[in-house]
Amino acid sequence: MTQAPAASKAQLFDYRQAANPVRKGLSDPIPYRQWGPELHASGPSGVIPLDLSAELGAEGPATSPALAAHYIRIAGGEGVKAAASATSSLFFVLSGRGLCHRGAQGNCAATSLNWAAGDLFVLPAGADPLLEAAETSVLYWVHDAPLLHYLGVEPSRPRFEATHYPAAWLQSELQALAADPSSARSNRLSLLLANSDLAATRTVTHVLWAMYGMVPAGATQPPHRHQSVALDLIVACQSGCYTLVGTELKADGSIHNPERIDWQAGGAFITPPGHWHAHVNESGAPAYLLPIQDAGLHTYLRSLDIRFIG
Ligand SMILES: [Fe+2]
Repeated sequence: MTQAPAASKAQLFDYRQAANPVRKGLSDPIPYRQWGPELHASGPSGVIPLDLSAELGAEGPATSPALAAHYIRIAGGEGVKAAASATSSLFFVLSGRGLCHRGAQGNCAATSLNWAAGDLFVLPAGADPLLEAAETSVLYWVHDAPLLHYLGVEPSRPRFEATHYPAAWLQSELQALAADPSSARSNRLSLLLANSDLAATRTVTHVLWAMYGMVPAGATQPPHRHQSVALDLIVACQSGCYTLVGTELKADGSIHNPERIDWQAGGAFITPPGHWHAHVNESGAPAYLLPIQDAGLHTYLRSLDIRFIG
């Protein structure tokens, strides 16, 4: 490395020293990490960040370079503000019911919606929403504030409208998909949540991607990979469900030397970008998962690079 004279911060690196700075001590690779449901099973009302910001060199709570995932636990009759400078906030209700409301701010409209267990809703940039629980509730919350921190920007306008995906609709559509004979040939038995304002990406917001999926009893899904990070939430499962993750495939299409991540209902884990992953259900009951990714952004950048085996 060559340093410019005087007070300049200009540097020059031999290409070989700086061509791939994704390595330990520079831009650390995104790690495997898992969080259990005990994090939100008890305790006072509040936001519980799944925070890897120190490892990632990110500012503020961050679970991946662009996204931050949290649990929000709210005692019945209490409220929690979900404060973040973000362009996209996604909430999935693991348990309970309540009300989300926020006032108008600038060109961002006021929002008021009722939520209940199994619902998913997304909010664009705007005032901090207040989540009020009618009974003790747990929500999974993912937003893109780490991306905005990195860019050094504040959101200036909403890019979509607040949108609600009720539990009954998600469940009935997923059951209909499972009953469709053509689903037997599908790599994933899943619904991709989309928004008619975002026709080009077919994603839940312009940054976030969300999938509501089922892994049937006895199923082993063939591996796939993509350059988006997945912050996976396990909605429901019995013992014996897991994800295999690794960077290489064997000649038979299975994952070479995989990491095994055992599922827990209400637990969460990271699938790093570019890693092959396959879900396995050795329990006797269907299992349900909700991966949240930055695949809206990757789709816009044409960098998703999704690949399938089988
Ligand atoms: Fe995936």
